[in-house]
Amino acid sequence: MEKIVIKGGVSLSGDVQVSGAKNSALPLLFAALLADGVGEISNVPDLRDINTAVKLLRELGAEVDLQGGCYKINTKKIQSVEAPYDLVKTMRASVLVLGPLLARFGHARVSLPGGCAIGARPINLHLKGLEALGAKIQLDHGYVEARAEKLRGAKISFDLPTVGGTENLLMAASLAEGETVLENAAREPEIVQLAQALNAMGAKITGAGTAIIRIQGVEKLTPLMCQVIPDRIEAGTFMIAAAITGGNVLVRGAVSEDQEALISKLTEAGAVITPEADGLRVVGPKKLAPVDIRTSVFPGFPTDMQAQFMALMTVADGTSRISETVFENRFMHVCELQRMGADIQIDGHSAIIRGAEQMTGAPVMATDLRASASLILAGLAAQNTTEVSRIYHLDRGYEKIEKKLAALGANIWREQE
Ligand code: EPZ
Repeated sequence: MEKIVIKGGVSLSGDVQVSGAKNSALPLLFAALLADGVGEISNVPDLRDINTAVKLLRELGAEVDLQGGCYKINTKKIQSVEAPYDLVKTMRASVLVLGPLLARFGHARVSLPGGCAIGARPINLHLKGLEALGAKIQLDHGYVEARAEKLRGAKISFDLPTVGGTENLLMAASLAEGETVLENAAREPEIVQLAQALNAMGAKITGAGTAIIRIQGVEKLTPLMCQVIPDRIEAGTFMIAAAITGGNVLVRGAVSEDQEALISKLTEAGAVITPEADGLRVVGPKKLAPVDIRTSVFPGFPTDMQAQFMALMTVADGTSRISETVFENRFMHVCELQRMGADIQIDGHSAIIRGAEQMTGAPVMATDLRASASLILAGLAAQNTTEVSRIYHLDRGYEKIEKKLAALGANIWREQE
């Protein structure tokens, strides 16, 4: 197994290029299944989760070739509609094949994803939506068996704005008969990109990015052709890296409109953030001010930035409160940050952080993707050496993060455990 070693205390400077968005590339790769032909998708990040998605597409019978950072996906010979447990358990976004397979072939057999480190993460809202479109859903030995002669448009109101649920229903409804209306839909930038890509394939979707999305079903779609948007969570992570080290970094690919909640909170903490031609420049303050945050669905403060922001608050000049409202168990990074000297008390779904003068490096363990990022950030600002183990969690969602940080001056490298 590998670990990442960081000798903290360096103020980062320079500029860093954000990769394509993992949470946009994943639904887009599966959207290729909706059309019969050769789809193309570029600016796909080189991540473990992407490799898992490609493996699943190949298991279904698609031919997937990577040529110069662009994936070509030939979906002419799909001969299976089953997403097996061993793949779904390693990457729950595999459930996003449900909508496309059901819409194109009238049948899908997808393993239930099971829980994960940050919460139970059921898919009941995905299934309720597909049933509303006329699918017959059965649960059988841990698998969802979904069948539908022909999906018919319907009005679907989500109990909560589920990102994956909105994505599955957008894809399924694109080939349903008649109009589908999604109410209380998720509004993330990744939803907007998926709708744009589907429309470029011939779908008729309006309202993506708002809480009400309308989809007029069409007979057929033409192959996918798109370029993945920059990863706003990777961008936010580098913005915090600049802030926590008192650095001056241009984050190329960061887009203000996708980061408003984070920009406002980082500014409140004392960072100076200025848009430039192709990104956002972040200058970290000498001393960070404590800031309270409460995660919520887009455009609120992203839950995927909560752990990283907590690392920042461990060295703020005062007490801050972080409330996690989206997932029920997303404080796994707390005990590892405490090993580095952080003063954090958990109170239900909130954490109270009393900022320390400085953190001390220590051997720590990654538990999930964004928790790993928060430990790297804490290590950048800590005295002495931090060693982060189990970094396979990190490699799911960050492309060569230690190389990108080293290029900004950080004293960081990867080595065998
Ligand atoms: C997506 O997960 C992201 N993953 C997550 O990013 C992100 O944290 C999450 O959206 C929220 O923004 C991908 O896009 C691949 P949800 P998803 O459905 O779709 C509950 C990362 O770090 N819920 O919006 O699974 C669920 O339990 C990952 O990159 C139901 O109860 O998120 C959770 O509490 C982590 N029933 C909440 O809604 C359902 O049917 C949000 O889930 C669906 C969801």
